[in-house]
Amino acid sequence: MSQENMVTLTIDGVKVTVPDTMTIMEAAETQLGIRIPRLCYHPDLSIQGSCRVCIVDVKGIPFYQASCAVKVAQGMEVETNNPAIRQARRDIVELLLDNHPRACLTCDRDGNCELQNVAYATGVRERLFAGERKRFPIENTNLAVDRDPEKCILCGRCVRICDEVQGVHNLSQQGRGFHTLVAPAHDACMDDSVCIQCGQCVAACPTAAFTEHDHTEEVWKALADPTKHVVAHTAPAIRATIGEGFGMPLGTPAAGKLVTALRRLGFDRVFDTNFSADLTIIEEANEFMQRFSKNERLPLLTSCSPGWVNFLEKFYPELIPNASTCRSPMAMMSSLLKTYYAEKTGIDPKDIFVVAIMPCTAKKFECNRPELCMPDGTRETDAVLTTRETIWMIKNYGIDLRHLPDGEFDSPLGESSGGADIFGTTGGVMEAALRVAVEKVTGQAPENMEFTEVRAVEGLRERELKVNDELTLRVGVANGLTNAKQLLDAVVKGEKEYHIIEIMACPGGCIGGGGQPYPPEGYRILDKRLLAKRAEALYKIDQGKKVRSSGHNPAILNLYEEYLGEPGGEKAHRLLHTHYAPRLPRGIR
Ligand code: SF4
Ligand code: SF4
Ligand code: SF4
Ligand code: FES
Repeated sequence: MSQENMVTLTIDGVKVTVPDTMTIMEAAETQLGIRIPRLCYHPDLSIQGSCRVCIVDVKGIPFYQASCAVKVAQGMEVETNNPAIRQARRDIVELLLDNHPRACLTCDRDGNCELQNVAYATGVRERLFAGERKRFPIENTNLAVDRDPEKCILCGRCVRICDEVQGVHNLSQQGRGFHTLVAPAHDACMDDSVCIQCGQCVAACPTAAFTEHDHTEEVWKALADPTKHVVAHTAPAIRATIGEGFGMPLGTPAAGKLVTALRRLGFDRVFDTNFSADLTIIEEANEFMQRFSKNERLPLLTSCSPGWVNFLEKFYPELIPNASTCRSPMAMMSSLLKTYYAEKTGIDPKDIFVVAIMPCTAKKFECNRPELCMPDGTRETDAVLTTRETIWMIKNYGIDLRHLPDGEFDSPLGESSGGADIFGTTGGVMEAALRVAVEKVTGQAPENMEFTEVRAVEGLRERELKVNDELTLRVGVANGLTNAKQLLDAVVKGEKEYHIIEIMACPGGCIGGGGQPYPPEGYRILDKRLLAKRAEALYKIDQGKKVRSSGHNPAILNLYEEYLGEPGGEKAHRLLHTHYAPRLPRGIR
């Protein structure tokens, strides 16, 4: 471990004393509040130092230095801003723009693009060079994540997040000069690569070089079609983040306003994916108890995160038997809408158009899985909108979410317990499962519903939870697949034993999903402060619920009695469970 020594240096004429492990950029920002412009830098990823937007003048060194990549030193004298530096930064950004399409007005990131912001901040007001620039075709026929390499500025943030946070290693910089691009190996399209569709590259990209595959057109078309009964259901994490798109303070729960907005957009019914999150817990707890009683296929691996399921199939196929066969809450809800709800209302399932509103790009891939389609091959989930797409559609309609009254989810697929709300954050599925499992084992609901041992936005937790004198559960919780690998490798090598492992592909769980809003000013993706605020919103909703355990949601109990029969029974299995298979290309772990 490196030992920190304090050093004193001068930044813009002011003496500061900081640990020698800091970079010039960090020292300027933390000590003097000077935010040096940057593009390739991300504090939670390794340093690349490629964009050079963050240059500063260090006395005695003949060339400008990248402040994100150079550590402070005793006696250093740094200037972060003078006419020559300003000119040089502007030149650098102008050169980036001159190799970039003139497409801001028609671009997905217009108004929310880091390159635009840096161009404004550095004073770029005209395009100077009109010569050659790079040309690449747009790749927009993938199921979940599309690419527009012309908009790439080669900052490498996507490469690093895919390597360092997700451990997928799908992207690399290839070619030279105007032919340089970031792509999967052999320039394969995303759907033919080891990509697990998590969308973290979309979240990390400062431009629109990566975007989610658009489903908004299909949804507008269905909403305008009088023969369609258009139904939305909204994932647990959405209620904690949708308000960000309308300038509401971070961590403001806004489920009621979202319901009202969706009705105004023309949705015939608005249900809550939380309902099927409760259902997932009932089925998963039942599955766990069966495996536990026979001591087989443990640890049980949770299966609600579709990015993680893709990772399982491509990177750890030998652990497929351990995965819960429960469908994700999205897939359970869509299945019920095309069966139970269709039968109850007498509407032909072909005329029901189901739109899932999700924090996730991988859900767009999941809805195309053949095993989650109707017998005629049509999708059970007809379209998946990310939080970002939903915000855009609401704005496009001229609605300002902040000024809407709260609406109520429709019944009977709209009631949920607090356990379902916390599904949206890392550890939430585990906590919701423990609320039910403890009652199943002991015959009594837990005195304290809050299993705070499994909470926290850290990427990896292992805990022992004493249920009673006979049983202590060993559980693992991981978010971000590099963290998950540590738990999975220990299981594969037989080094550790767990009863249940919860894995969420995205950092922080669904609150950090690849389809969530780009963070507001002052925050960034992977930012623990941002994730903690979003998680807080979900815990607050949970605390306010009368029913905290999925096992006590009366609407769920009624559904089993009226329609599904027993948890894990034949009908429940047919409608609520699925299967997995090894998938190519295999990932290298
Ligand atoms: S979607 Fe995820 S796995 Fe695929 S390239 Fe992007 S970060 Fe990597
Ligand atoms: S695709 Fe985006 S994140 Fe990746 S290198 Fe290009 S600009 Fe950077
Ligand atoms: S953790 Fe959430 S956002 Fe990430 S892939 Fe899974 S469901 Fe999607
Ligand atoms: S932000 Fe420092 S080189 Fe890119």
